[in-house]
Amino acid sequence: VPKVTFKFEGREVDVDVKPGTNLLEAAQACGAREGHACGGVCACSTCHVWVHKGFATLSEADDKENDILDKAFDVKPVSRLGCQAEVGTADVFVEITPESLQAWYDENPKDRHERDARLLAEGKKIPAPARDLRKR
Ligand code: FES
Repeated sequence: VPKVTFKFEGREVDVDVKPGTNLLEAAQACGAREGHACGGVCACSTCHVWVHKGFATLSEADDKENDILDKAFDVKPVSRLGCQAEVGTADVFVEITPESLQAWYDENPKDRHERDARLLAEGKKIPAPARDLRKR
């Protein structure tokens, strides 16, 4: 059974999934904070992740995914849209991009307020909404 591990905010969570599960579904199954503003229909790029291990074992990206990924911030050779990339039979290690993490907070105001209060208390800057990170 393939295991998907997500890294975000300095911590890691993982989940065992069936082959064919997409990365966004895996994130939701283990509480990883991956944004999904369009609801997983390949229309927003807020589910953008970097796949550091197992990239070649994922389903192939189609033209539509590549078009949407083009709009994402800080795209790398290991970039995928979580709602489109399906796990094969191998383990995968995924880093949630700052854009995607911020989109998750945009969608979860209660958690965002808690985070912002913590950042303020630590004297740190509060990140801008994810939409402000997107390319125009
Ligand atoms: S959730 Fe919108 S493109 Fe993946």
